[in-house]
Amino acid sequence: DYQQKEELLRVSIREFSDFPSPGILFSNHYTPAKSPLPQLNHLHPQLNHPCTPPAKSPCTPPQLNHFTTFRQITHTIPQLNPPPTESIDSRGFLFGPALAQRFGIGFIMIRKKGKLPGPTESVSYTLEYGKAELEVQKDAVHPGQKVVIIDDLLATGGTLSAACELIKRRQAEILDCLVLIELLSLHGADKLKPYRTHSLLKYD
Ligand code: PRP
Ligand code: MG
Repeated sequence: DYQQKEELLRVSIREFSDFPSPGILFSNHYTPAKSPLPQLNHLHPQLNHPCTPPAKSPCTPPQLNHFTTFRQITHTIPQLNPPPTESIDSRGFLFGPALAQRFGIGFIMIRKKGKLPGPTESVSYTLEYGKAELEVQKDAVHPGQKVVIIDDLLATGGTLSAACELIKRRQAEILDCLVLIELLSLHGADKLKPYRTHSLLKYD
């Protein structure tokens, strides 16, 4: 009910003093390690799949726990500690939360430098002109967790490979990197080996 939902939201917000500048109390939403999100056990895109609620009993969903391809997502079975999707500041945020909600799993933001409070991991990367830095909160990603990284565009691959490096440093496992658009002429995918990268639209 409404009160329960309000409580779920409340416990997923924490406060940091003096961030981003002295005197500011910064409220930060995050996915706790033991997420209060409901455990959805039978997600499947086919509306008439026997495991789609209301499930016909008995119903055993296929035992997979990761996305296959962007186009043919079969399903995901969240574990006790749900595998999160991670998406990249800022246009990746258009896609990450929607997919995470669709699959009933957590969502974590990889942000540009200086936006996240508390201990962070950071990786710098090269832009066409100059350098930039991506960050993730250290306690948002745990060793052994399985994650999918999502962004809108793969151009030179600098951004996505920096995001992968961040997740690797947290000793989590990258299942897939998903992008909507890939610019093939820039060979960004070369930078992303050995990760599995999927793009929906490819442009020369
Ligand atoms: C754009 C785009 C990708 C990145 C791809 O982000 O959204 O994240 O560039 O380029 P790359 O493969 O050469 O690294 P941008 O840094 O412009 O910021 P935005 O998402 O905040 O618009
Ligand atoms: Mg971007």
